[in-house]
Amino acid sequence: MMTNHTTTFISASAPSGEGDPAPYFRREFRVDPDLREATLTVTALGIVEPYVNGARVGDEVLAPGWTSYRHRVGTRTHDVTELVAAGGNAIGAIVGEGWAVGALTWENNRHNYADRPALHLTLTLRYDDRAETISSDESFTVGTGAVLSSGLYAGEHYDARAEPSGWAEAGFDDSAWQPATPLVWNAELIDDAAPPIVRHEALVPVAITTSPSGRTIVDFGQILSGWVRLTVTGETGRLITLRHAELLTPEGELETETLRSAAATDRYVLRGEGAETWEPRFTFHGFRYAEIEGWPGTLEIDDLRAVVVHSEMERRGWFESSDPLLSRLHENVLWSMRGNFVGVPTDCPQRDERLGWTGDMNAFAPTSTFLYDVRGVLGSWLQDLAIEQHETGTVPWTVPDVLPTSSSAAALWSDVAVSLPWQLYQEYGEIGILERSYPSMVAYIDEVEPLLDDDGLWGSGFQFGDWLDPDAPASNPAGGKTDRYLVASAYLVKTTRELASAAHVLGRADDEVRFTELAQRVRDAFRNEFVTSNGRIISESATGYALPIMFDLLDDRQRELAGRRLAEIVEASDYTIATGFAGTPLVTHALSSTGHTEAAYRLLTQTKSPSFLYPVTMGATTIWERWDSVLPDGRVNATGMTSLNHYALGAVADWMHQNIGGLRRTSPGWKTFTVAPELGGGQTAASARHLTPLGLAESRWQVIDGALVLDVIVPDGASATIRPPLHPDGLEQEVAAGSHSWRYDLPLGFGKEDQLSLQSPLKDVQRDETAWAGVLAVLRRFFPGVPIEAAGSHLGGVPLGMLAERMPEEHREHLRAALQSALDTR
Ligand code: BGC
Repeated sequence: MMTNHTTTFISASAPSGEGDPAPYFRREFRVDPDLREATLTVTALGIVEPYVNGARVGDEVLAPGWTSYRHRVGTRTHDVTELVAAGGNAIGAIVGEGWAVGALTWENNRHNYADRPALHLTLTLRYDDRAETISSDESFTVGTGAVLSSGLYAGEHYDARAEPSGWAEAGFDDSAWQPATPLVWNAELIDDAAPPIVRHEALVPVAITTSPSGRTIVDFGQILSGWVRLTVTGETGRLITLRHAELLTPEGELETETLRSAAATDRYVLRGEGAETWEPRFTFHGFRYAEIEGWPGTLEIDDLRAVVVHSEMERRGWFESSDPLLSRLHENVLWSMRGNFVGVPTDCPQRDERLGWTGDMNAFAPTSTFLYDVRGVLGSWLQDLAIEQHETGTVPWTVPDVLPTSSSAAALWSDVAVSLPWQLYQEYGEIGILERSYPSMVAYIDEVEPLLDDDGLWGSGFQFGDWLDPDAPASNPAGGKTDRYLVASAYLVKTTRELASAAHVLGRADDEVRFTELAQRVRDAFRNEFVTSNGRIISESATGYALPIMFDLLDDRQRELAGRRLAEIVEASDYTIATGFAGTPLVTHALSSTGHTEAAYRLLTQTKSPSFLYPVTMGATTIWERWDSVLPDGRVNATGMTSLNHYALGAVADWMHQNIGGLRRTSPGWKTFTVAPELGGGQTAASARHLTPLGLAESRWQVIDGALVLDVIVPDGASATIRPPLHPDGLEQEVAAGSHSWRYDLPLGFGKEDQLSLQSPLKDVQRDETAWAGVLAVLRRFFPGVPIEAAGSHLGGVPLGMLAERMPEEHREHLRAALQSALDTR
């Protein structure tokens, strides 16, 4: 429901300065005995904590979250009937600075929306025959209390001695407080604009240690977004300081480099009247460790909990693998999503950003829809995107937009305007999603079309390119090795096609033709500019190949060659990561979809830095901004872009769901899907489960005694195409709703580590130290005096068994048998 665009809030009489105390608002009211129902609708410019008769109302935290406050401010309505009683009552609210007033971005700019925290509420008292309304107006008084200062990046300073006892109850003497000042705000108030941000689990410390410099450090075992709740007994006036960080230095001290300028420090001053439990309310931190100073006596495990905080969303997806490293990688993706869905989808939750960067969300969209029901958070975010796009004529790089610089159309970032609604439509099958976003989708492509050159290539202007390509200079993360206009034009074909498909779904035939033609024009321009007739891509790189393969920019023959070339390229970098935001989500898909699943697995399972699994081997519990954010020696990579909690590159989980677990949606809303796991990476079991809009879909496989067992669940209303992996008859079967199982013998020898055989290329044999030592010994015996090791390096692609061809015929079988036994005995 939307109400009047002009709303009156109330505030203190002066703008808030940095480090100012949070305003406390209160007012008393009377309730008659025949009350039937009392409801409170509340919001703020800032972060609001509402109270009725001293009791905290609801369990929402960080309310009202972050929207484009100049246009939309979310409200929440609570039933407070149980909190009021006949006679004198009181309502109160504390409002912290939050996103509306406090510092945002690395420039720490304040007052991005309002110059002071402000409150808006309506209390409705319903009787059998009448209703009374109490609204935020000058009848409220405003004072201050224990919240001495608060900032999302800075942290909260709370002095319990300064909390006026009973301030939110009837009978409190507020004669020293000031009348509230009206503040007129032009924006729509929207009920339930986005799901509430709430507390989830509370993590128990896994260790409390003393650092070499004598500081007390608590390890919660997991990087999360939220805060520390403490319970303490001590003398009045004692200051406890909590500093938060994602990492410790190799020496064991708090490493705050990844926070950049965010102080992330909470301060609590004891009241001193027995056990006190406290947690901050007007800040949140991205952290795993907390350094605690000033604790009275010995800090015990039960004195602290890390409270996990993020938007309320239903869990929808699960993945497991017999390889603990892959399971942990997936768990890390999940935690990075949880840590970055705090109101809006953010890049990271710890440093002086925490912004709704569009490119990050775009890269992560398919993974996010698998893991959680994101309609609430992303539906609200897309509305803000459309409003701000309409206002400025371009999709902002961050939504809501508070960037110090203005945005311009940029591939992967701005085109979230098209790809995200399209992705949400695919997942949920709801046409309404497309209807709502359609004007924004069209506006984006209409903005880009005039930027194309005469041939249709997007070849000028700023681009993020393959952002954070590990080979880009630290000073220029956009300066990766893949031509940025290759990236821009490839993505433009994809998004224009998505728009044409959306037009089709919505029955807009003219638009469909127009955007199909535009996509074709850009595709032609791309091919003229970047693709040789044989399928080699100018600006050769893994991203350079992954994009045209995945966006269908090549003909069949070119595609095959491009796949082969991509496999060579990832092999040449020894399966370490050489792609950034644009290429990483696609590179494994591009390999497997061109028949190079083994290379995809090698890429996925490499542990050498930088690689998908390297952070896992370093103890990561979330996805890092760079795969080498922390160097092998435990030091932070000194590039200034080293968040340890960035979901963007966690987009690789999409491949894990589709190709390892094997669940792939093939029509909107999961009416049809395929189950086609691809075995590899030494795994002996894996599963993917997804709560589709129709119900649970599941694919679970395991290898038992040389046989493959595949169990599949298809929800009511859906049908699935099953391709059991390595099936002796190459089975492909359509199944309807229900539970289905297959069991069949795998090819002999499957499951043997690496499956080295006489068909294996020499270079693969060389990778296995034991096998290679055995093979070398055999070869030296059969080819005395030949420099075998040198030959190994230039014969890398030759199958091991081929070496026997060099022998006189009568010895060939001997050599083959000796090589086979060298492989078998390793
Ligand atoms: C963010 C990124 C974002 C990028 C674009 C960074 O500071 O953390 O994830 O997409 O800026 O400039």
